[in-house]
Amino acid sequence: MYKQLSDCLGLNYLSIPLQADDFDLDLPVMLEAIKTHQPSVIFLAYPNNPTGNLFSHSAILQIINIAKGLVVIDEAYAPFANASFIGSLPAHNNLLVMRTVSKLGLAGLRLGYVIGRPAIIEQLNKIRLPYNINSLTQLSANFALCNHSIFDHQTLKICEERSLVFKQLNALAGIKAYPSAANFILFKTAAEQATRIFLALKQQGILIKDMSPQGSLLKDCLRVTIGKPEENEAFITALKYCL
Ligand SMILES: Cc1ncc(COP(=O)(O)O)c(C=O)c1O
Repeated sequence: MYKQLSDCLGLNYLSIPLQADDFDLDLPVMLEAIKTHQPSVIFLAYPNNPTGNLFSHSAILQIINIAKGLVVIDEAYAPFANASFIGSLPAHNNLLVMRTVSKLGLAGLRLGYVIGRPAIIEQLNKIRLPYNINSLTQLSANFALCNHSIFDHQTLKICEERSLVFKQLNALAGIKAYPSAANFILFKTAAEQATRIFLALKQQGILIKDMSPQGSLLKDCLRVTIGKPEENEAFITALKYCL
């Protein structure tokens, strides 16, 4: 989305490939690119989508320290991660943290928010469209916040299920699941099998995400979102059948 939005706005967009072995930030390349291009804004997803990992905390801090522009940490999946840069906000005047209620199961509300220093928020408010959050969304979000224990419980359950699915995936021959701090798991199939497996699962009524067309580090990769226990069980059973 960041590339798509940058392209729509006619902005220069530069992405830096992650390290191949662990999907972490390639810090030397990032720091060099920052020095060369002096970006006005850097977006880092924490946890990252679709790899699911948390980038190195110290690498992100180095990026925040060297960047002259804004660094926006996209914490869409933070509820599943137990990690955040909100605590680092007071120490850095170029840091913003962005969140959404989407991953809590409220994607239809279309509600996101940004946390940062009043001086930056004041500037963002100048360019925010008037009435950009409708009344129904506001009411629903208020209701959700008043009942946050339901969401906390759901999040906990998803994290427990994630551990189970991770173990089950890695127990399958030809599958390598990557550790995830999000509500999905990225996994690698045998060479050139990802799309076949994706389609076979779809035929059995199970829709996951085929990442393999993106190539590069995502070659042969699929991404499954953690669901209810019975959905996860159905996925694993169907996957065994497809291998
Ligand atoms: C990393 C990341 N950030 C933000 C979002 C945006 O979520 P939404 O537009 O539903 O708030 C997504 C959605 O998939 C995401 O993967």
